[in-house]
Amino acid sequence: MFSAHRKKSILITGGCGMIGSNLVRRLLKDGWDVSVADNLWRGKIDYLYDEDGKALIDLEKDFYRVDLCDREACERVVGRTDYIVHLAARVAGIEYVFENQGDIFRINNLINSNVFHAARKAGRDRIKGIIYVGTACSFPMTRQNMPDPEPLREDELFPAYPESAYGWSKLMGQLELEYLEKETGIPCCTLILHNVYGSPTDYGERSQVIPALIRKAVNFPVEEYVVLGNGKQERAFIHVDDVIEAFVLALEKGWGKGCIQIGPSYCTSIREVVETVIGISGKKIQPHFDVSRPEGNKARCADYSKAREILGWEPRIKLEEGLSRSYKWIEDSIRKDRVGTTKEGTAT
Ligand SMILES: NC(=O)c1ccc[n+]([C@@H]2O[C@H](COP(=O)([O-])OP(=O)(O)OC[C@H]3O[C@@H](n4cnc5c(N)ncnc54)[C@H](O)[C@@H]3O)[C@@H](O)[C@H]2O)c1
Repeated sequence: MFSAHRKKSILITGGCGMIGSNLVRRLLKDGWDVSVADNLWRGKIDYLYDEDGKALIDLEKDFYRVDLCDREACERVVGRTDYIVHLAARVAGIEYVFENQGDIFRINNLINSNVFHAARKAGRDRIKGIIYVGTACSFPMTRQNMPDPEPLREDELFPAYPESAYGWSKLMGQLELEYLEKETGIPCCTLILHNVYGSPTDYGERSQVIPALIRKAVNFPVEEYVVLGNGKQERAFIHVDDVIEAFVLALEKGWGKGCIQIGPSYCTSIREVVETVIGISGKKIQPHFDVSRPEGNKARCADYSKAREILGWEPRIKLEEGLSRSYKWIEDSIRKDRVGTTKEGTAT
């Protein structure tokens, strides 16, 4: 039990990333004692500052710059907290994922295994709960290779046949967490996220499809507007604010409920995203669809009835509104000369 005066502590691994930094902000507002572990592989320390340039957390005390592949370093940070939201992972656009499959598999499995092993060692008396994130990329490719698909259910993850090492690695983490929960009694929950977008975000060489498409529109005509694949691939895009709401609800109601999908029940094609982004840019852009580049699974979306029933969650932010907000953030960031880029991402 927690005393009425002690704030509950929570460690967010990957807390300098897109989802993590938004979660840090929200949980601080909700009164949690938040710490962050991140090696800044893709996240940025800048994301842990507010609009007035003030650090959101005490960076000396509550930010651990650690590579969670290092087991001892991992044990040092994981054993100090009541709750863990485990987000740290190697995640990137599809070209990076397909060119680095072995490394992604190895690194994500190492990170997951180290974090979960450290929690196992700390034990149930110390760790009160762990939330992990799975991905829609873990669904079998046989269920993602048809147009106009039926929304996917959680029980369709098996028999497993993900398209990429990334999807496999995230699924392995999900399994390992289930074993941990059964064997230690530490309450757990996995949120399986569809394609999340928002800000702050990486829009550079390892970025996913939406930030890459926005960057090219902002940079056009200096940067050519190339789209990976024929644009017919479809994804269930979900704004990061909707995802943060799901984490808050899971921290309250998700314990012991297994895996819960977070994403809309309809697909949007990359072509539609391209058209909307170009519309927002106000520029006359003729996109070039490069079919020689990887495009990934054809289509997928979420049957989120479990999220609705258990968490009371549903998506709220419309794609056009979310894209407009992301466009503004990336445009402002490019103006501030924060990143230069060459190589684009697409939907993973
Ligand atoms: N963005 C999506 O569409 C999406 C969809 C499904 C699941 N997810 C999952 O959500 C989580 C967060 O994703 P995100 O979109 O915020 O990505 P992100 O890249 O912005 O955040 C991941 C964070 O993990 C950190 N990290 C990477 N390797 C690390 C290591 N060895 N040690 C410590 N920190 C490390 C990165 O620096 C980064 O800050 C990931 O686990 C990802 O697999 C994301």
